[in-house]
Amino acid sequence: MSSMLTDFELKWLPVINDYVKREIPLSVPQPLLAESMAYSVNAGGKRMRPLLTLAVLNTFKVEISSSRLRAAAALELLHTYSLIHDDLPAMDDDDLRRNQPTSHVKFGEATAILAGDGLLTLAFQWLTDGDLSDTQKAQLTLELAKDAGPAGMVAGQVDDVTNEGKQLSLTQLQLLHRRKTGALIQDAIAAGLIMANVTQQRRQLFLEFADLFGLAFQIYDDILDVTSTETKLGKPVNQDENKNTYPNLLGLSESKVKLRETIELGKIALAKAGALNNVNVDLLKSFFTYFKLDGDY
Ligand code: IPE
Ligand code: IPE
Ligand code: MG
Ligand code: MG
Ligand code: MG
Repeated sequence: MSSMLTDFELKWLPVINDYVKREIPLSVPQPLLAESMAYSVNAGGKRMRPLLTLAVLNTFKVEISSSRLRAAAALELLHTYSLIHDDLPAMDDDDLRRNQPTSHVKFGEATAILAGDGLLTLAFQWLTDGDLSDTQKAQLTLELAKDAGPAGMVAGQVDDVTNEGKQLSLTQLQLLHRRKTGALIQDAIAAGLIMANVTQQRRQLFLEFADLFGLAFQIYDDILDVTSTETKLGKPVNQDENKNTYPNLLGLSESKVKLRETIELGKIALAKAGALNNVNVDLLKSFFTYFKLDGDY
């Protein structure tokens, strides 16, 4: 199972990386803006969101055309904007990201904010300037606006920064995590479903899987903040002392229990989605191997 994700990454990670490396300069005429946007995107990262989109296309046996690849890469632009802004002094105030000095450390705050603004808006450009159908473009735009905007990720970030030092309930924390991280991950799955022309009704179970995968992703990120190292993550650890996180609310071992439960529920939702749609979901299931549940994670 784990080699399926690895094989998929081996094939598609370089394609995604080459694509953004080549295309960002073509879309950004202002040299400093091009440099600062490319700096954060080309620093790397797991590319989890575009990989999920491509995995959904693969699941439905839809060809990964250049316009579909562009739409998947758009989500990585948007995600990278969220990281640049998340790291700003007024937000989490971090100085390392993807093993490099953060954007505001390298370029100053004003340019970092603008690099984020550029990536956010370029994401919508890339969703819509390819040769997808107009219906698909409209749906991709609407979904990303809802998932990444004030009804999704941005709302989660507000809940995150305004509740520092205050303890939320588990229900409130789940909502925060679903919004700040889950929504964009869900969008990555939704984008694949839209481009595979899966009907609204049939999308639902996949979106349930995506929601649980996204929640698990942030629980795991919270856990890694206390168990991993800067070298492994490429970003500072032990930064979440005043944050609402699973380990802060429940302790480490109960957080791991909740992570396992969330993963199990996600796998059940995915299996149902596969059965309903008559597709093989092994590739999507292999994405759960990202969560290392044993040993010192
Ligand atoms: C980090 O995202 C921020 C969260 C939403 C938890 P990733 O863990 O996907 O970071 P990269 O893209 O691999 O750098
Ligand atoms: C980030 O959550 C979520 C978004 C960027 C939207 P975190 O603040 O936990 O992410 P890291 O740990 O800095 O990557
Ligand atoms: Mg944050
Ligand atoms: Mg942060
Ligand atoms: Mg974190």
